[in-house]
Formats: sequence, structure tokens, C-alpha cells
Amino acid sequence: MTRLSAITPSGPTHVGNYLGAVRRWAREGGPDDLYFVSDLHGMTTPYHPQKLRSRTRELLATLIAAGIAPDTVFVQSDLLPQLGPLTWVLECSCAFGEAARMTQFKEKSADRTHEGTPVRVGLFTYPVLMAADILLQGADEVPVGDDQAQHVELARVLARRFNSTYGEAFVVPRAVTPPAGARIRDLTEPTRKMDKSARDAAGVLFVLDEPDLLRRKVKRAVTDSMGRLEYRPDDQPGLANLLEILAACHGKSPREVVAGYSSYGEVKDAVAEAVVEELAPLRERVRELLADPAELDRIRAVGGERAAERGAHRLSTVLRLAGVA
Ligand code: TYM
Repeated sequence: MTRLSAITPSGPTHVGNYLGAVRRWAREGGPDDLYFVSDLHGMTTPYHPQKLRSRTRELLATLIAAGIAPDTVFVQSDLLPQLGPLTWVLECSCAFGEAARMTQFKEKSADRTHEGTPVRVGLFTYPVLMAADILLQGADEVPVGDDQAQHVELARVLARRFNSTYGEAFVVPRAVTPPAGARIRDLTEPTRKMDKSARDAAGVLFVLDEPDLLRRKVKRAVTDSMGRLEYRPDDQPGLANLLEILAACHGKSPREVVAGYSSYGEVKDAVAEAVVEELAPLRERVRELLADPAELDRIRAVGGERAAERGAHRLSTVLRLAGVA
């Protein structure tokens, strides 16, 4: 069984990425799994090449520091020679309307329009590249947070369509979302998801933030004036979000954890300590890995070769079936 997933270096990793995704990949990962830094997806909105490169390294180090087996980790652009052709084949199997329906595209393109910056075609085709990532490797399961489930659904549709139109080439993947921490929200704007590229970092707990900064951000989290200690995401989104973070840290459900506290302040203190305890050792290991660039390069090369070897046969089958090789 192959699980595959990725994280985009569009900003520093936050606690939502960690609790909703990376930590699970580390805990549940098997020898056939693949986890990668999707740097090509980081080009779909305005970016600085040097920052993209350094964030890619930082994320690669974060995946390894989180405990994912180093030989199952790679960088997406190291597979560009295979992903380029496969993305084109899949784009030619994907209807315009299917891509246009993607919620993330609608949200991100609206943000760009709001800022007055052009919407890149790459932002529109982003889910098709993601389908290529998944289908190239024959992944059975794709562990993601809620926000990516729709993209995995598109990959399923494209796999089935290709298989039935041109011949069996792809495994039909399925998304798996975590029971807790699937959608961590911004602490200052709890109706929005926590986002690496949020304009204001006050509501985003970054994995590499200093412990004191994490504590300050939690202390300033928006709650409400109801004074009811219950898990009610619709009516009390701020408190519910804090409970979700706490629950994900402790491996419990939000309703289980809420019983142990008698004030919002107590909940915040508990969240701050749980997050610091979870992230401080990770931050230390990331630092150590970044201090040895040659070793990081070596790990990157090994993982990239392994993934490229795995994908080569499927790509040639697909091109042959599609009539172009
Ligand atoms: P990305 O970098 O946006 O997110 C990485 C993972 O973190 C999850 N996530 C969250 N989970 C809980 N709460 C949040 N606030 C939150 N924000 C993000 C995401 O669901 C994801 O699992 N396009 C993908 C990367 C990608 C990919 C792939 C994933 C590229 N190719 C192939 C799976 C398979 C992305 O940008 O994720």
C-alpha cells in the first residue's frame, strides 16, 4: 500500500499543516510511502526564487525532523521531467469546468483579483499537477487536510476517465482525512483556515516560531463573550479551534478535552503549553538538519531517484496508451 502526500513551500509550515498532515505522515508512514515538498505548486502565486529554494530546504528538513523516513522524502521539482508530460496528458483529460469548480482556485483567484495581481494559469491547473503527482506514483491513499480533499477527488475522476478512455494505467487513489486537526483555523480570524500565506501572521502558529511567540499568539487568540465552555464550532469558532488544536495535540476529541477546564484562560494556557511541547523538539531538529547542507542534499538525491524510478514505467505506459510514444 502506497500513501503519498505533499506540502507546498508557499510560506513557513504552521501547526495546521503539522497536526493535520505532517505528524500523521510520520506516525503512519510505511516503507512504500512517498512524502514530498511541492515546490512547483509554490510557483502558482507570486514568489521569490531564492525564498522558494530556501523554504523548500526548510520544509524538507521539517519532514525529516518530524520523523518521516528520509528515503521516502523527495522534492517535487526533481521529478519535473516526468511530471511535465504527465500533467499535459491529464490536462487534456480534464474539462475546463471541472478545474474551475475547485474551491481553492475560486478563493485564491479572488484574493489575487482583490490585490490587483494577475491570476496565473498555473493556479488554475494546480490540481491537475497534483493529480499527476498522485497518479504517477500509483498512490492508493492520499492523507490530506479537508482543504485538499476536493483536489484528490479530481485525481480520482481523471484516473478513472483515462483508464476507461485509453486503457488501464492508473491506480484510483482515495483521500484520507484525520479525525482531529483536519481544519485548524486562524487564531485571530477563526472563520478562515490557518494559512501559510496569511497576510497577518498574528493568528498563525508557525512550527519554527520561538516558544514565547507561540505563547503570545495563543494568548491573543480571539474567543467570544459567552463564557460557555463547550465545543460548538458554529457558535463559538474561536474556542472550538483552540479545543481542536488541544485535542489534536493530545490525541483526543475536542469534546473530551473541554471537560477538563473551567475558563477560556485555562484553555489558552493548556493550548500554549501543548503546542510548545509539540513543536520545540521539532524546531531543534530542523535547525540541526539545516546546519548540515551536504547531508540534506544527499537525502534529497536518494529520495528523488527512488521516486523517479518508481514513476518511469507508468509514464511510458501512459504516453503509449495516449498515442504519443
Ligand atoms: P498545503 O501545503 O497547502 O498543505 C499541506 C497539508 O496541510 C494540510 N493543511 C491543513 N490541515 C489542517 N488545518 C489547516 N489549516 C491546514 N492547512 C493546510 C493540507 O490539507 C495538506 O494536507 N497542493 C498541496 C500539496 C500537494 C499534494 C500533492 C498533496 C501537491 N501535490 C499530491 C497531496 C498529494 C498543498 O499545497 O498542500
